Amino acid sequence: MRVLILGANGFIGSALSERILAETSWSVCGLDLHDHRIRHLLDHRRFAFVHGDLRAEHATVDRLIVQSDVVLPLAAYATPATYVSDPIGTFELDFEETLRIVRHTAALERRLIFPSTSEVYGMCSDEAFDEDESRLVLGPIRNERWIYACAKQMLDRVIWAMGSRGLDFTIFRPFNWFGPSQDDCRCAKPGSSRVIPQFIGHLLRGEPIQLVGAGRQIRTFTYIDDGVDALMLILADRGATTSGQIFNLGNPLNCSSIKDMAHLIIEQLALLPGGRRLAEGAVVEDISGRDYYGQGYEDVAHRRPAFRKAMRLGWAPRVSLRDGLNSILAHELKIGGWAQIDSVDDRVDAMATQ
Ligand code: UGA
Repeated sequence: MRVLILGANGFIGSALSERILAETSWSVCGLDLHDHRIRHLLDHRRFAFVHGDLRAEHATVDRLIVQSDVVLPLAAYATPATYVSDPIGTFELDFEETLRIVRHTAALERRLIFPSTSEVYGMCSDEAFDEDESRLVLGPIRNERWIYACAKQMLDRVIWAMGSRGLDFTIFRPFNWFGPSQDDCRCAKPGSSRVIPQFIGHLLRGEPIQLVGAGRQIRTFTYIDDGVDALMLILADRGATTSGQIFNLGNPLNCSSIKDMAHLIIEQLALLPGGRRLAEGAVVEDISGRDYYGQGYEDVAHRRPAFRKAMRLGWAPRVSLRDGLNSILAHELKIGGWAQIDSVDDRVDAMATQ
């Protein structure tokens, strides 16, 4: 099988490329603007990488689709701060460019595996969001945050309609996937990362964590390796049972308020060599969504997936929020370069707790 991953250097694209090459005989063709997450794969004989911007290089993208069996258009803006600061750019990449790719994939009768998002459920009041039953509830137009969810929802609807007319597709909805190297937690700017790398960056720099809306909102955190397990099941099924289906990919055992998750990170940090002092000095502040993200922001109070379809897929996510956070913290501390970690006191601390 020839798998085309548009956005192969992204958080999901890089993890999926690595897994496919390690565990199957399939070939991967990846396109991306950058290659820092996949440098170790560039020489692999079943990996072909094209540096490029899919917004500018339509002919290249179209040729790669011709040469593939299955297409995953993973390149997208995916941080809420970007939806608010650059709603037009979000629309252009996440909707317009992706629609072009979807159309070409359909015209060539290739299989499409499409990354929708947990955000499409928006402010749905269901206890658990069901792929086939729940209403998709977005806020007013002036709250520009919703442009991402709206773009993804419209694509879900277009793909579904194309499916009734012959397109072989599977839609998956990641629920707050997390893991090492998700976003650049070394970037200090508020909102530059999704919540876990954002909090970890603040903690390791000795800065306060900011809880938007007092951190009462609920998310369902799903470890990247578990998410990739599900994508491998979908790919390996070759459409036999997953074609024409939508799957929530969220680990219901990892539901947490943002506030509890922040305190869990602090707890885990305290247990790691070099982390205790930073954890003891951690400051947690409250901030409003408008002050943190700007006028166009509105939050999602709770987000929990129905799991029945994912279970039918045979998917069993395994990594707890605690273990996942521990892996990220250990990864960041190992890379180092955090000024406070490298202080003499902390080196002593590290020796004492090893
Ligand atoms: C995310 C993103 O839109 C996408 O990555 C994705 O499609 C989807 O949800 C998903 O992964 O399921 P959201 O969960 O709101 O949306 O994004 P985060 O940036 O991870 O924020 C989670 C929560 O933490 C939000 O309520 C946010 O207000 C809060 N937060 C974030 C803080 O309290 N403080 C911060 O410094 C950052």
